[in-house]
Amino acid sequence: MLTLKPRGTNDFLPGEVEEWQGLEARLQKLFHIYNYHEIRTPILEHTELFLRSVGETSDIVEKEMYSFEDKGFRHLTLRPEGTAGTVRAFMENKLFSGSLPKKLYYMGPMFRYDQPQAGRYRQFHQFGCEVFGSEDASVDAEVIAFSLDLFSRLGLKELQVRLNTVGCPKCRPGYLQALKDYFSEYKAELCLTCQRRLESNPLRILDCKEEACARLSEDAPTSLEYACDDCTEHFRQLRAYLDTIGTEYLLDHRLVRGLDYYTQTAFEVVSLAVGSSQNAICGGGRYNKLAYEIGGRDLPGMGFAAGTERLLLTLKEQGIELGKKAHPEVFIAPLGFNARVKAFALLEELRKADIPADMDLMAKSLKAQMKTADRFNASYTVILGDDDLEKGTAVLRHMDSAQQEDVLLDTLIDTIKKGLEHVSY
Ligand code: HAM
Repeated sequence: MLTLKPRGTNDFLPGEVEEWQGLEARLQKLFHIYNYHEIRTPILEHTELFLRSVGETSDIVEKEMYSFEDKGFRHLTLRPEGTAGTVRAFMENKLFSGSLPKKLYYMGPMFRYDQPQAGRYRQFHQFGCEVFGSEDASVDAEVIAFSLDLFSRLGLKELQVRLNTVGCPKCRPGYLQALKDYFSEYKAELCLTCQRRLESNPLRILDCKEEACARLSEDAPTSLEYACDDCTEHFRQLRAYLDTIGTEYLLDHRLVRGLDYYTQTAFEVVSLAVGSSQNAICGGGRYNKLAYEIGGRDLPGMGFAAGTERLLLTLKEQGIELGKKAHPEVFIAPLGFNARVKAFALLEELRKADIPADMDLMAKSLKAQMKTADRFNASYTVILGDDDLEKGTAVLRHMDSAQQEDVLLDTLIDTIKKGLEHVSY
């Protein structure tokens, strides 16, 4: 019996892959417009990197990492997200020398041992960007506005930014204590996970989906109430930048995100259009202490990442197609061995002239070959019989009009080239 793909992974087949290619091409253009440069980091990192960045009490580290020991007894993990590896690479390659901020982007597979369902997989893909070196709120505003522009340029409707500030090491302890005091009063009503979080990380109770925890979170103290002067001012400036370009946002004091490295800004973009899954398409925020935590130097950062599968699902739900289905413009249908040999040579000539072309490789009947040409959606079919060969001609069929003409083999390629002059492929 065939060994099947691992649970929570996907094969992306021809027909679907074109959507990915279309998306990636658009993303590359947009990253260029916003002056971001691509970085490619390993899919494997030392496990310690994620323990020190994503955080030991996060769901990712507690239960979702694909970690293993390699043959050299190293503890490695398939990256569950892209920020930690990007910060690591930035520090390791000393990209901080030279002018700051540096603006990087990445795309690629990530791995989380999650419960698979629509839009949630164990191997999924993210694209994201990170800006290093500036604490200024203009960076936060640019990243948020960029993500919104990106999704609206792709055609997504009814986008909403949810925004919060999660404080910094100076003010967060006071806020955590306030949350602890508040939730402790209702401890018995909290789900078992949140009862544990009360000790380990009360912030995470705020984004628990359990009904009782969500209800209690509504009236919980907000981080803004406990923010220090720096965080309050940073948030005020961020809002001023967003307001000035007319970017709307919803303040959501329950938005704390599932990764421990955030300081100050946290945000998500959701699409509220009918039929859309309510899940966030992208999430991000500021992480001023992350580089320090992983053993580097103090280096502020801000970024976001979006789930590619989730985005493509949302685009599909909203009837937006990005892919261009590639197909051969010319199909050659030879009949008989000599014709097949000539067809083989013609095919090579067409391809050398950059014309997408194919031929029958199964010695099928003419009827079957014409069906293939139709399925390929070719513009032309060249029908070549052994007797045509003797005359030095071929039949050129225009697939749209179903008209056929005899064309000299010597002029065939030029005739086809001329006919395809206005076609882009
Ligand atoms: P995150 O919210 O964990 O943030 O993931 C970002 C996006 O990845 C989510 O909004 C979602 O679209 C997608 N995603 C997450 N888990 C899955 C899954 N199991 N299956 C499919 N899609 C998924 C981060 O990863 C941060 N590194 C974002 C960031 C960048 N913050 C600052 N810079």
